[in-house]
Amino acid sequence: PSTIGRDADGRLTVGGVDVVTLAREFGTPAYVLDEEDFRMRARAFRDGFAAPFEPVSGRADIYYAGKAFLCTAVARWVAEEGLCLDVCSGGELAVAQRAGFPAERIGLHGNNKSVAELEQAVSYGVGRIVVDSFEEIERLADVARRHGAVAPVMIRVTVGVEAHTHEFIATGHEDQKFGFSLQNGQAAQAARAVLRHSDALRLGGLHSHIGSQIFDTGGFELAARRLVQLHAAVCAEHGIAMEEIDLGGGFGIAYTSQHTPMAPGELGAQLADLVEREFTAIGDDPSSWPRVSVEPGRAIVGPSTVTLYEVGTIKEVDLGDGHARTYVSVDGGMSDNVRTALYEADYSCTLASRRSDAAPRLSRVVGKHCESGDIVVLDEYLPADLRPGDLIAVPGTGAYCRALSSQYNHTPRPPVIAVRDGSARVLVRRETVDDLLALDLG
Ligand code: LLP
Repeated sequence: PSTIGRDADGRLTVGGVDVVTLAREFGTPAYVLDEEDFRMRARAFRDGFAAPFEPVSGRADIYYAGKAFLCTAVARWVAEEGLCLDVCSGGELAVAQRAGFPAERIGLHGNNKSVAELEQAVSYGVGRIVVDSFEEIERLADVARRHGAVAPVMIRVTVGVEAHTHEFIATGHEDQKFGFSLQNGQAAQAARAVLRHSDALRLGGLHSHIGSQIFDTGGFELAARRLVQLHAAVCAEHGIAMEEIDLGGGFGIAYTSQHTPMAPGELGAQLADLVEREFTAIGDDPSSWPRVSVEPGRAIVGPSTVTLYEVGTIKEVDLGDGHARTYVSVDGGMSDNVRTALYEADYSCTLASRRSDAAPRLSRVVGKHCESGDIVVLDEYLPADLRPGDLIAVPGTGAYCRALSSQYNHTPRPPVIAVRDGSARVLVRRETVDDLLALDLG
């Protein structure tokens, strides 16, 4: 987080609150979310990313991808900062509704939305529903008719881009479950299917999402080029205008010092340039150019959060050949951050409760769960005088950590604590064993 620092006693502080106080008050593990950092990144996208698009397509909309992390307070911050919200389930939509998020600024995603989810979206009046299959187009048309509504629709297009990221989070290539393919004309056929239901569906645009944790802008450029071409082809075929193309999310963040993410302004400038060139080449009247939107999740919430853990045990393991590894066990693990186990994600960490001048020792921070892949930080230099009771902070845990958390080993999930200007408040409380047992009906 941008407000991270150390106080005079060497304790880590976030949002002006020191972590020892946080741990005493709220316990560990805990997600500590820096509200200012979140808002600052939201504004950087709203203003920085969007600005270069103004002369090209009037405006750019930023949809915060709630799947990265969502609770009612965060939904309200997103609304207050003037962003839109991307949800991908009835549950995420329910959080948005509970927060009173303006319906017309919500988009709904998903490759297998239930009829109940479509009804929830149509009756709340969400601003766009991104359709992902022919079945869904028919299903949504039925739902809209029953509600006497005309549902705003975008078509999710598989643009055939190989994004350079982990296989499980790449989504632009052909062989995967999302979207209508550009090859074989499926995407154009989907547009026809939507337009056949013009009494119940309104075709508002095209969407692509090529993957997540991406640093190379080439993939976005290729996706933009293909969407612009399809946009022009569909508009020409049917004599219609479509107001939006969405390039999805996926902008990478720095989990360790090896990553250098792009500033939203730079990214916006590159993409705006490209979109302008493409439309100019097609020769369409600039007044018919669609606005461009994006859906960053990780890039807004990821850096905002540190997870605080308490060290429980420390063990030296002899690796033979004169080497040893120090295993530092903390009081959480793959239940609150599964990303290391799932994607071999890289994290760093630091001793947070005090300063130490002891020699650095290569350590592996592991959780308390009953499997050996339960690793939080694969390799980190931690001081050799580390001891039980010390606090460790893992930064960059705002995205897809609480969101992907589980209750594995009947472990109650940690709270989310927002810090700002020297004070802390609980956004999502800690689960209790009683919460877990309440589901167990004997
Ligand atoms: N839009 C769509 C349609 C998406 O599917 C996603 C992410 C986003 C936007 C936001 O992507 P972001 O800007 O946050 O990268 N659990 C994985 C990431 C899965 C991403 C799923 N879709 C992880 O922890 O790395």
